[in-house]
Amino acid sequence: MLELKNVSAGYGPLQILWGVSLKVEKGEFVSLVGPNGVGKTTCLKTIAGMVTATEGEITFDGKDITNFYVPDITRQGLSFVTEDGCLFTGMTVHENLQLGAYILSDKKKVNELESFVFELFPRLAERKKQLAGTLSGGERKMLSIARGLMSAPKILLVDEPSLGLAPNLVDDVFDTLLSLNKDQELTIFLVEQNVHTTLEITDRTYVIEQGRICLQGNSSDLLDNDHVKTCYLGLS
Ligand SMILES: Nc1ncnc2c1ncn2[C@@H]1O[C@H](COP(=O)(O)OP(=O)(O)OP(=O)(O)O)[C@@H](O)[C@H]1O
Ligand SMILES: [Mg+2]
Repeated sequence: MLELKNVSAGYGPLQILWGVSLKVEKGEFVSLVGPNGVGKTTCLKTIAGMVTATEGEITFDGKDITNFYVPDITRQGLSFVTEDGCLFTGMTVHENLQLGAYILSDKKKVNELESFVFELFPRLAERKKQLAGTLSGGERKMLSIARGLMSAPKILLVDEPSLGLAPNLVDDVFDTLLSLNKDQELTIFLVEQNVHTTLEITDRTYVIEQGRICLQGNSSDLLDNDHVKTCYLGLS
């Protein structure tokens, strides 16, 4: 469904990604893990059209989307939930959700999607008219994911959904992503620091170090990998 072939990207003269190749098949739950500052967010931004690929090719659903504009990529069915959620803090929960559906013109479909995300996150339903800026950190995360779902994506890219959350909320967020993948058959590409849980819940994982994919495999196999154990799981 999504494939990167030898993708390089960066910021001006600063190259961050060096020939990154990876694949996410339809229905898969795939993750990208690695140390801080190695290019995980840059990789997601490059896929989503927010950073220009200087080399390589990105295909999605059989179409070359390399350096498409962001709205055009969203229209293809790719939704990117950024780390900070990019919420409109002066707007209500409902208004933020409606904006997430900006590519859809069918009002009925938009209402159905809103009902679906309210079922998924009942706390948001209770706060429909509350300003996004007054939500707690956990509720903002929920709203970010919910808004990402409002464009009815085929694939959801999620950057560090567990960051800054208390352990019980981290579990809730991971449970929600797992249920979206297993029950709703949503394809997910997840970037996470919480490597142990990520390896437990995802199908496959890529490890990125210094802008290059250095390891990949079934997540369950990587739990037993010596490099992963030493560098990411704190085991020796
Ligand atoms: N807009 C920008 N301009 C210049 N450099 C940037 C920009 N955004 C990110 N960088 C740099 O690119 C490198 C990779 O950043 P990126 O955000 O992709 O890392 P990351 O793997 O997501 O890290 P983290 O785990 O801390 O989120 C970092 O050195 C960062 O400082
Ligand atoms: Mg990041």
